[in-house]
Amino acid sequence: MVWVGPEAEAPSGGQKLDVGGGILMPGLIDCHSHLVFAGSRLGDFLKRMGGESYEALLSGGGGIHTTVAATKSASDAELLALTQGRLARLAKSGVMTVEVKSGYGLEPEAEARLLTIAGEAARAPGMPKVVRTFLGAHALPPGRDRKDYVAEVVGAQLAACKGLAERIDVYCDRGAFTVEEAEQILRAGQKAGLGATLHAEQVAWTGAAELAGRLNIQSADHLERVDEAGIAALAKGGVVAVLLPGAMLQLRDSSPPVMQLRAAGVPMAVATDFNPGSSPVLDVWLVASLAVLTMGLTPEEALKGITRVGAQALGLKDRGRIEVGAVADLAVFEPPSGEKADPRTLLMYMGGHTARIRIQGGRVLADSYQAAIEPSL
Ligand code: NIG
Ligand code: FE
Repeated sequence: MVWVGPEAEAPSGGQKLDVGGGILMPGLIDCHSHLVFAGSRLGDFLKRMGGESYEALLSGGGGIHTTVAATKSASDAELLALTQGRLARLAKSGVMTVEVKSGYGLEPEAEARLLTIAGEAARAPGMPKVVRTFLGAHALPPGRDRKDYVAEVVGAQLAACKGLAERIDVYCDRGAFTVEEAEQILRAGQKAGLGATLHAEQVAWTGAAELAGRLNIQSADHLERVDEAGIAALAKGGVVAVLLPGAMLQLRDSSPPVMQLRAAGVPMAVATDFNPGSSPVLDVWLVASLAVLTMGLTPEEALKGITRVGAQALGLKDRGRIEVGAVADLAVFEPPSGEKADPRTLLMYMGGHTARIRIQGGRVLADSYQAAIEPSL
C-alpha cells in the first residue's frame, strides 16, 4: 500500500477500480486453523451429543487420534486436494492470510508432510498466504511414554519441521500436555527461531496463560478458563488472546472472560480453529458474528479480531490493515440488501459472505468478477 486517503488527493496514474458502494475490508486474517487432515469425526460428534466429553474421547484413543489415523492413510494428493478446497473456501470469504497447524502426524516425517502440503496448497493462484505452525505436541500417541514423546517433539520432530514452519504450538491442557512440557517445547521452538503460540486454558485451568505471558509468546488461544493472574500475565507479556467461538459452541462451553480481558488491555483476535473435532466451521465471518453474539465482543472488536489483531497474533505488522506501508490485500463485500456499506452489517447477518472483489498484494484477482454482483443476502 503506497497511498491511502480521500479521492480528491489521490496521486495521478495507477489503475482505477470502482467498488460501487461495496464494503472495503483489509484482506481477512484467520489466525488459528487445523486445515490439513482427512477422515470423519461423525462418530465422536454423535457420542458427544449423547453426553460423552471431548476429553474422554481423546483419552480413550478417539478424538485427535481418529484424525491422525485417517490422515496417515490418506495419500499426499488427497490431502493436498482437501487442503486446497478448504483454502479456496476461506479465500472466497475474503481471507487473505491463514495460519495452518500440523498436529495430525505426531511423528517426524508425518508432521513435516502436513506442513509441506500446507505450503504446496497455498501456491495455487489466488490462495491466501499461509503461516505454518508446527504442532507435534497436539496429543500423546497411545502407548508412547510421555518423556520420550516430548523428547522426540523437541528433537527429531522439531528438526524435521523447523524449516517448514514459522511458529510452534502446544496443546497445553488436562489430557494433553502439561505446563512444564509446554514450556520445554515452546522454549525449544523459540531457540530454533520460531514464533510461539499456545492452546491454553480450554478444557481445564492449568496455568498455561501465565506461561504464555512469561515467554512473551505471540498468542494464547481458547482461554475459556483463564483466571485473573493469567489475564494479568497475558497483558504484561504482550500476548494476543485468540478467541475461538466455534470450539466454544461445539463443545457446549461457556465464554472466555471477555470483559476482564478487555479491562486488562489484552488484544483479542477471533479465528475459526477449523478442525474436524472441536470446531468444524470454515467461516471467519460466522465466528466473528458468534464472538459478538455469544462472547460479548463489540462489533468493532470482532472486526479488528479478524483483521489487524489477527495479524498481530501471527506477528505480522503489515497485514490486516489499510494503511501506507501495509501489503495491499483488500476484499470488497456487498452489503446485505437494504443495508448501508457498513461492515457491521456483515456481522449482523451471520456468516456466508463472499468477497465480490479480491485484491492480493495490489493485484485484482482474476476470479473477482465471477462472484455475483448482487446483495449477499
Ligand atoms: O483447537 N484442542 C486441541 N486441538 C483442537 C482440536 C483438534 C481436534 O479435535 O481434532 C482445538 O480445539
Ligand atoms: Fe486449535
